Amino acid sequence: MANSVVVVPASSRKLEGKVAVITGGASGIGERTARLFVEHGARVVVADIQDEAGARICAELGADNASYVHCDVTNEDDVAAAVDYAVATFGALDVMFNNAGVSAAACYSVRESGKADFERVLAVNLVGPFLGTKHAARVMVPARRGGCIIGTASAAVAVTGGAPYSYTCAKRALVALTENAAAELGRHGIRVNCVSPSWVATPLTLGHLGLDTAAFEQAMEAVTNLRGVGGLQADDVATAVLFLASDDGRYISGHNLFVDGGISVANPFKGMFKD
Ligand SMILES: NC(=O)c1ccc[n+]([C@@H]2O[C@H](COP(=O)([O-])OP(=O)(O)OC[C@H]3O[C@@H](n4cnc5c(N)ncnc54)[C@H](O)[C@@H]3O)[C@@H](O)[C@H]2O)c1
Repeated sequence: MANSVVVVPASSRKLEGKVAVITGGASGIGERTARLFVEHGARVVVADIQDEAGARICAELGADNASYVHCDVTNEDDVAAAVDYAVATFGALDVMFNNAGVSAAACYSVRESGKADFERVLAVNLVGPFLGTKHAARVMVPARRGGCIIGTASAAVAVTGGAPYSYTCAKRALVALTENAAAELGRHGIRVNCVSPSWVATPLTLGHLGLDTAAFEQAMEAVTNLRGVGGLQADDVATAVLFLASDDGRYISGHNLFVDGGISVANPFKGMFKD
């Protein structure tokens, strides 16, 4: 995937003048979204714990367009500081993309799942987006310029058995957080949505499954529903996030947008629990 900045003509840019914070922006879906947002005229704060990768991506995007801040999304002070940094550096906050996430230990049995792992995954994948939503709203509401908050859930919210307990529970609760916040913040002109991708070859999934990209793509063949378009790419998810963040999605709020080629309705994992 090309890492150079694509020049989108000014008339076609969907986020001109907007400011976004992207948690987990140093890798995978978050990185591709950061690049796409900048191509569409946004200025972006990449908030992550991978300092070297985050700083490198922002340097590639240019200091006028992107800035990196260290932020552990489980730490409320870090999240508050990242939001304040966006306002101080770029003058506002229009889009909060609560995307940072981790995978769980590869265990699909409730009898064998560990409490510490369950709590670790909930801390990053649910408490993180809660804090991001809270602090985005803290600055968006008084600014009176609307705003957009987007989370990265997962197709695992619909395909029971497709992910470990902690991951599924965190992502389902993220959908609830999305709906609650959409109901509360709508009167301030703030839209709240999430995207639910199926499986993309990122460090998160490759590490979880213990596969390289080629083996991952082969494994996905078995569960893919939509044929003839290849596997899901991080750019496909970034495009969906751009849609929700821009005026294209101006009347969409409280929605969970599946980006999964229909896996959530086909559920290839049905019947996986055999014993
Ligand atoms: N890749 C997939 O197939 C897939 C499918 C559905 C949902 N998701 C979700 O997409 C999101 C992005 O994941 P990805 O696949 O791009 O993986 P990734 O590993 O490429 O990116 C995740 C990023 O989150 C960051 N991160 C992890 N813990 C953090 C913390 N405590 N604070 C701040 N940043 C932290 C990582 O450093 C990394 O840069 C996650 O929420 C993941 O659950 C991924």
